Amino acid sequence: MKWKRAAPTRWELGFDLPRDAQCIGLGEHCSSRLNLRGRSWTMFATDDPNHLESMDAMYKSIPFLILSRGRKSIGLFLDSPGRQKWNLDEELCERGSVELLSRRGWRLFILGPAPVPKLVEAFSELTGRAALPPLWSLGHQQSRWSYPNEKSVMKIAAEFRRRKIPCDTIVLDIDYMDGYRVFTHSKKHFPRFRKMIGELGRRNFRVVTIVDPGVKQDPKYRVFEEGRKAGHFCTTAKGRLFIDRVWPGKAAFPDFLRPEVRTWWGEKHAFYLQNGVAGIWNDMNEPAMFDHMKVLPRNTNQLPPDSRQLFLQQTAEGRVGHFEVRNLYGFSMSRATHEGLARLRPNQRPFILTRSAYAGIQRYAAVWLGDNMSWFEHLRNSVPMLLNMSLSGVPFCGVDIGGFGADCYPELLLRWYAAGIFYPFFRNHCAMGWRSQEPWAFGPRVERHCRNFIETRYRLLPYIQSLFWEHHRTGAPLMRPMVWHFPEDEIAARLDDQFFFGRDILVAPILERARTQRNVYLPRGVWHPWSGGKPLVGGKFHTVEIGHGDVPAFVRDGAILPLADVVQSTADLPRAPVTFTCFGSSARGVYFEDDGRSFDYEHGQYNEWQFAYQRGRLTARALHHGVERSGRKWGLARSGFKERVRYLPPTIFSSSK
Ligand code: GLC
Repeated sequence: MKWKRAAPTRWELGFDLPRDAQCIGLGEHCSSRLNLRGRSWTMFATDDPNHLESMDAMYKSIPFLILSRGRKSIGLFLDSPGRQKWNLDEELCERGSVELLSRRGWRLFILGPAPVPKLVEAFSELTGRAALPPLWSLGHQQSRWSYPNEKSVMKIAAEFRRRKIPCDTIVLDIDYMDGYRVFTHSKKHFPRFRKMIGELGRRNFRVVTIVDPGVKQDPKYRVFEEGRKAGHFCTTAKGRLFIDRVWPGKAAFPDFLRPEVRTWWGEKHAFYLQNGVAGIWNDMNEPAMFDHMKVLPRNTNQLPPDSRQLFLQQTAEGRVGHFEVRNLYGFSMSRATHEGLARLRPNQRPFILTRSAYAGIQRYAAVWLGDNMSWFEHLRNSVPMLLNMSLSGVPFCGVDIGGFGADCYPELLLRWYAAGIFYPFFRNHCAMGWRSQEPWAFGPRVERHCRNFIETRYRLLPYIQSLFWEHHRTGAPLMRPMVWHFPEDEIAARLDDQFFFGRDILVAPILERARTQRNVYLPRGVWHPWSGGKPLVGGKFHTVEIGHGDVPAFVRDGAILPLADVVQSTADLPRAPVTFTCFGSSARGVYFEDDGRSFDYEHGQYNEWQFAYQRGRLTARALHHGVERSGRKWGLARSGFKERVRYLPPTIFSSSK
């Protein structure tokens, strides 16, 4: 690794890129390939809804690159929130470089050589791990920009229950607010806000509300006046309030780098909690500014003087031009939200979703990858993009199922749900003006298949909880590239249209229109098709038929999956029988359980079981037995679930009901 200060505000770092190294990780980039090698990528928080091949910068910046080479992989973490351009051997001469715009310097962490899982473990030790999310947030979330009023929200919720399609969360986009003023609700369209949320709660729905950083400039609006008087908003070099346009029109932007601003912002969330809101969605937090869509010209190779960086932000070391710390804006906003919720509702796991992020965001929020389109290309991209996000330390990630912009259509929705049940964050969301894409939007046949997919997600929830527990302990993400489990397998290492969901499920979705077949590479071992049929022998490609209603997954022989009976919302999950499903004649698996709500697991209040299946006998051993109390709802109270264990032959759930 070599570096130099090429200009007062520009650093250049160079490194060798061995021919056989794949470049993976590096946060969020619009790419149909996992391997980012062969071009350059910019990290500078940008709201650009055109997710095309030519796209350079996106919303998030996670400057952690893995040079993947089996057991000799290397991790590079260039810690700096300034603009970074990574050139990954664009010149095809086995060199990589980074151009960083900063006056203040950087820190570089080099990890390895080691296998990829070890690097991610070390990186997550450095930047933190996600705590266990609230169980409800792992269920199905239904969103729309926007359900315009109470009636439409209640109707959507009623449809889910009437049609028996599981769902936990209704997400309210910007129109729940009074003129897009954050920390308010519209008296006209949501006059009974609290009551409505209460009624939804009685039907086991949680509500997540969007909260953007831009505070409407309006002297009659308390939040704006409070923030202005206290000096909480970002100001220009001349000391004037910085104003730009976002959804509410002219708005001011809190300086989330300052602890007192974060505290203030966090406290404001009492408004949501008093109204019964369960989780917060932080959007537009690059921050997006309609008068400055392109914040820095692409070819700029020096930081402009502070006075020409739109506004300044306050750090412990003094005032800094915004561009130099821009990549921390969304991160700090989510931090403020997370810390606020944790203070206001102690011992309840917060759920926060964010669009912009920096390394370490997993400590505060889940992420989704912004404004994709209802295109098969974007379904295809979601696999490598989420894998790279996962490798960048962020386990709780997803993309808008069905696609955000453009009209979705039946085949696309089906294929998207089939893949999406394996996204850690599982939300259907759609932009204004486009065709509705709720699971029943395209008639009974599509609805039946979507129901089956969503039910499969709910069956998998005990497995998913165990995976989050694994992440918490080791940093392992839920979505893993093939190389994660088969570092020596050179074919597996190059595949990015299939992935592992935890150790035991290999997902190979259909990612193209008008296809019912695909090739799937099964690594060595024996694999059980989820939708039934003979076990397949690995170590080679198989051409498999994947019908519109089929779950595109293969279970590793030797696995035991804890699968719950279907429930309509996670509120009923603690009472649902769990079936320990053994794949193969000898198998093992783990099962984690806790209350799904609190942080008591940090004080040992959980059970972790190891199951083994051999010669027709299933045995369970407690690795940790922290729940003595036989609470009605969980733990051993499931009156010795051992008795309820059902032994099933290797392939079990048929997708056609
Ligand atoms: C942004 C978000 C999108 C949201 C919209 C309106 O485009 O990315 O998800 O629906 O703003 O709030």
